[in-house]
Amino acid sequence: MLDIKDKVEYFNNLRPIFHYSCRRGWMNDPNGLIFYRGYYHLFYQHCPDRTVHGPMHWGHARSRDLIHWEELPIALFPDKNGTIFSGSIVYDEENSSGFGSDKSDPLVAIFTHNKETQGITRQYQSLAYSLDNGNTFEKFSGNPVLDMRMKDFRDPKVIRYRNKWIMLTAAGQSILIFSSDNLKDWKKESSFFTGDLEKNEIWECPDLIRFSDKYGNERWVLIVSQNTLDYKKTGVRYFVGRFNGTDFFDNTGKRTLWLDFGRDDYAAATFAELQGKYIQLGWMNCWAYAQILPEKGFRGSMTLPKQLILEEVENCPILIQKPADEVMKEIGIVELNSGKWSGEIMIGAFLINMENDRGRINFTNGMENILIGIDYTKGEISVDRSGCSKPEWGNEFGEVRKAKFTRLDDRQLLVVVDTTSIEIFAAGGEICGTFLYFVERPFSEIEVGGI
Ligand code: FRU
Repeated sequence: MLDIKDKVEYFNNLRPIFHYSCRRGWMNDPNGLIFYRGYYHLFYQHCPDRTVHGPMHWGHARSRDLIHWEELPIALFPDKNGTIFSGSIVYDEENSSGFGSDKSDPLVAIFTHNKETQGITRQYQSLAYSLDNGNTFEKFSGNPVLDMRMKDFRDPKVIRYRNKWIMLTAAGQSILIFSSDNLKDWKKESSFFTGDLEKNEIWECPDLIRFSDKYGNERWVLIVSQNTLDYKKTGVRYFVGRFNGTDFFDNTGKRTLWLDFGRDDYAAATFAELQGKYIQLGWMNCWAYAQILPEKGFRGSMTLPKQLILEEVENCPILIQKPADEVMKEIGIVELNSGKWSGEIMIGAFLINMENDRGRINFTNGMENILIGIDYTKGEISVDRSGCSKPEWGNEFGEVRKAKFTRLDDRQLLVVVDTTSIEIFAAGGEICGTFLYFVERPFSEIEVGGI
């Protein structure tokens, strides 16, 4: 465990304690998440030489417990086919790709090459493989493997289902689904779209995960990151439905489901090879201000790893989230009731028992604050960080975010506070909110009370 002096040093360097951040340069989406031979591998969108988005690489880190990360050398560099955008990794156990050797089965990365020539962008899907447990990757000489001559065609997520490889890619306002036997030859099967996006709104970073209901029937969840230029409807959205190996059928109905009501969980992806358990990690940021927030030689970090569970809430299946068990063990929880709690530095995991029907939790350093409001009569939560926002970060940062929930009886809130972020889990995981913050001095007081 860290002592206060260490925490202050992390704080002064804008360095998260419980969240992964790269040593230097820029970072966005998590890529190629996979649990393999005892390690969680995290690859990510990375630009080592600058603190804004640029020619993208895949950075790489690994961890045994999802909290202590070891940064490894860059896994994929730009090449003649373009820069390296988001994608996923699979364990090709049967060597269907032929990349394996007598000694090792391959891990295969499926990623987007992004090529810009004279102002024209083209995106296509390519492969790279590793025969040393993910430490180094070799690009496939036949790249790209899937080119639809499109501008927005990216972020392949590949899963194994019914002896086939299934790839989902974002293509503007829809998700395209392909299948393959060998990861190299792809056949288009279907497309999924809702038709409720406006001009300039697009989907990115799809994921498709499978649960079963209490009768043993498969339930599928399609996750997409929705990027809207006015940032009103930006965030990770999901659909609950069916998948038959070629088509996804949405049963969500009229509701729009969001994974996080905060601003700062984007491009969320789940780890492969966890045998039906889903741990999600997102880029803890928002394109609206990601490139202008304060930095100290590096910019960006990941969210806490969160377990996703599909549960019926008021007869509707929704994703419930909780921080991965491993992570909570390490951070340690401090339990609080109503009152004023002060200390030198309020960083850690706080389990807060709300005693009032309408409650508030204020994190402050005497000058700046973040205010959480929660109303158990209406099932409503809000987060206001206008008390610690700066005009140069734009309007979005200081705007009050709200969400509705139905589990009115669960009155405990888990709030994980790191040096530059605050993550809120409420109503038994029905609600999750991720928010960045930047303040002059660490929060030294938490006030818990009624309104
Ligand atoms: C999402 C995204 C992806 C793309 C990557 C580029 O944040 O825009 O669609 O692959 O970032 O860095």
